[in-house]
Amino acid sequence: MNDSNQNMDWGMKNRVSKIIRPEDGRCVMLAVDHGYFLGPTEGLEVPGRTIQPLLSYADSLMITRGVLRTSVNPNTDVPIVLRVSGGSSIIGEDLSNESITTSIEDAIKLNATCLALSIFVASKYEHQTLTALSKLVDEGEKYGIPVLAVTAVGKEMTRDARYLSLACRIAAELGAHVVKTYYCENFERVVEGCPVPVVIAGGKKLSKEIDALELAYNAIEQGAVGVDMGRNIWQSDHPIAMIKAVRAIVHNNSDAEEAYNILLKEKEKETQQHRIIKSVD
Ligand code: R5P
Repeated sequence: MNDSNQNMDWGMKNRVSKIIRPEDGRCVMLAVDHGYFLGPTEGLEVPGRTIQPLLSYADSLMITRGVLRTSVNPNTDVPIVLRVSGGSSIIGEDLSNESITTSIEDAIKLNATCLALSIFVASKYEHQTLTALSKLVDEGEKYGIPVLAVTAVGKEMTRDARYLSLACRIAAELGAHVVKTYYCENFERVVEGCPVPVVIAGGKKLSKEIDALELAYNAIEQGAVGVDMGRNIWQSDHPIAMIKAVRAIVHNNSDAEEAYNILLKEKEKETQQHRIIKSVD
């Protein structure tokens, strides 16, 4: 892991340590913020129903304030990565037209451990989203709250190492404390050029679970500190089994095949439990 937190003050270091576990320098962030531009997307139609069973397996939860307030029990001790950018929808004119949607005061009220915002490098709104990142970092620095920059990729952009290393590096240069990006060929280049920790998004649900596990494994192998994964977990037929398998890769150094075997065992356990419940009914 990059030793990028050397110069941080205590509060900032403490919050980063809630997101990236100090024991192994890794993190499993559960992403459930998709509704901010996708609406009630498949698997997340009733957010509380999706989130609650997965919460105890997540090191942190990436979420908007609306879903946090309505759908997560405030007694939780899972750190919150609060998405504070948005303003466009999947059916609107241009997804990259995002601004900051949540004030720092509200983020503090919500006890956010980290703030998250998307940048759209090479889009029409590149300047707007990059300066929003800088402003958010200024606010975060005032209160010791780290910022995670999401390198969002528009339809017209290619998710390759050239583009993603440019976007990640710019995010870090503007002060992001953690960067979320996509896995790609030559991913080491992306990590090498980014002086702050990098996590990967899972992206659209892959048809085979083993492919999602391989993606996570390859990213960790090539220097990511963890995952910020959503759809490949909660759109799976067995979300708990899937997040356990992902955890094994991130925290126990399992390879994709070992993690897949964990997934199969967990699926089998779940099936047996359902059989027992049905027979009692
Ligand atoms: C997308 O913009 C959201 O910020 C998600 O948090 C992110 O894409 C990670 O979720 P997934 O693994 O479903 O791609």
